[in-house]
Amino acid sequence: MKVDVVLGLQWGDEGKGKVVDVLTPHYNIIARFQGGPNAGHSLKFNGKNYVLHTIPSGIFRPGTLNLIGNGVVLDPVIFRNEVKELEASGEDLTGKLQISKKAHLILPTHRILDAASEHAKGKTKIGSTLKGIGPTYMDKTGRNGLRVGDILSPAFMERYNALKEKHEGIIKQYNFEYDITEYEKQWFEGIEYLKRFEIIESEYTLNDFLKKGNGILAEGAQGVMLDVDFGTYPFVTSSNTISAGVCTGLGIAPSRIGNVYGIFKAYCTRVGSGPFPTELFDETGKQLGSIGKEFGATTGRARRCGWLDMVALKYAVMINGVTHLIMMKADVLNSFETIKVAVKYKVNGVETDQFPYECCENIEPIYKEFKGWNCDINSLRDYNSFPKELKEYIEFIEQETGVPVKIISVGPDREETIIR
Ligand code: GDP
Ligand code: IMO
Ligand code: MG
Repeated sequence: MKVDVVLGLQWGDEGKGKVVDVLTPHYNIIARFQGGPNAGHSLKFNGKNYVLHTIPSGIFRPGTLNLIGNGVVLDPVIFRNEVKELEASGEDLTGKLQISKKAHLILPTHRILDAASEHAKGKTKIGSTLKGIGPTYMDKTGRNGLRVGDILSPAFMERYNALKEKHEGIIKQYNFEYDITEYEKQWFEGIEYLKRFEIIESEYTLNDFLKKGNGILAEGAQGVMLDVDFGTYPFVTSSNTISAGVCTGLGIAPSRIGNVYGIFKAYCTRVGSGPFPTELFDETGKQLGSIGKEFGATTGRARRCGWLDMVALKYAVMINGVTHLIMMKADVLNSFETIKVAVKYKVNGVETDQFPYECCENIEPIYKEFKGWNCDINSLRDYNSFPKELKEYIEFIEQETGVPVKIISVGPDREETIIR
């Protein structure tokens, strides 16, 4: 068996949570491989909405194991709150959730370092979710980090204090005021709480599962354009959000990667700072935001909105080896007379179809216009019943990317999904 992958192809919030929930019945295990509580994955079914940050989006389906992989960074406070909320809504997580020993811990002082660093950057800030993601990955690659498996070690407190002290020294240099007393108390409660879950060597578990013929789905967080190597650096997150991240984030060999499901919105959004070539600052942009309810699932911030960017999308398809495309939120465009797609950029007056190294004041998107379908598609459940304008839009995307659009989402609910 192979590991299939669900990835965001834009700047995050494409609808990964919904799609993973829809695909879960085809798999035995759902595994997160990178990122942490900067993610906010929304699901909707039976009239209820849920948002997950650390827990994989397969958690609501019976009989599925959900695994938090080594590539993830975990905040015990956020994790505990998330589990408690799920339990309060009647979910039984017993035996359904396992955590890699090698996942790194987000310390209270990592969150302060994140805030201090952003504060110091002023106007050039990343617009981080301030969950401590960057500083935690820095300690991981800097070989200072604490891992989930360490909580079982007698030397844990000593190591915690040493790292905290190191952080305090850096925070002092930022001249940044903070108080972690309450959060630290909750953090240690969260550490104790973690111990009731199975803490495992997940690379063995996953490879054993594969050998036995089980299906695994890897759930990405963020999106390709936020990847630390290939995104709009430095306005990115601190992990590899791309398909290659599955190998390092779960301990899976490249030859074991199967289908790569690339998810994109029928338009484009971004939250936080950084380049966004097709961003709209006009009424149309506002309309996309209000119809699409474009507010962050983690921070509540308004998302910036714009037209679909084919240059960025083709780049994302190339980097990830996307085998299947999944188009989300087509319904948001129901009332638009004209829909635009950026097919090329003009960079310093020269046309290109490549995403440039330096983005973005000097970029002018070149748009192709499509006639809108001007009708309500939310209740449609069959591709053949789609309006011709929507089919043309989808077929154009397939032609440009060379990849079939296999799933189309026409609403937030599980049921509002068309599989071709
Ligand atoms: P994720 O981070 O990729 O899981 O995406 P988010 O959950 O942050 O954001 C996607 C938002 O769009 C959520 O509020 C979803 O409920 C919603 N959503 C997902 N698919 C659709 C769709 O096809 N149509 C509409 N209108 N909303 C959708
Ligand atoms: P999901 O998984 C959208 C953005 C932040 C910021 C940048 C760095 O829900 O798609 P970080 O907290 O990682 O230091 O923030 O990345 N960002 C996201 N944007 N969706 C996300 O996750 C994001 N996770 C981080 O807004 O610009
Ligand atoms: Mg999200």
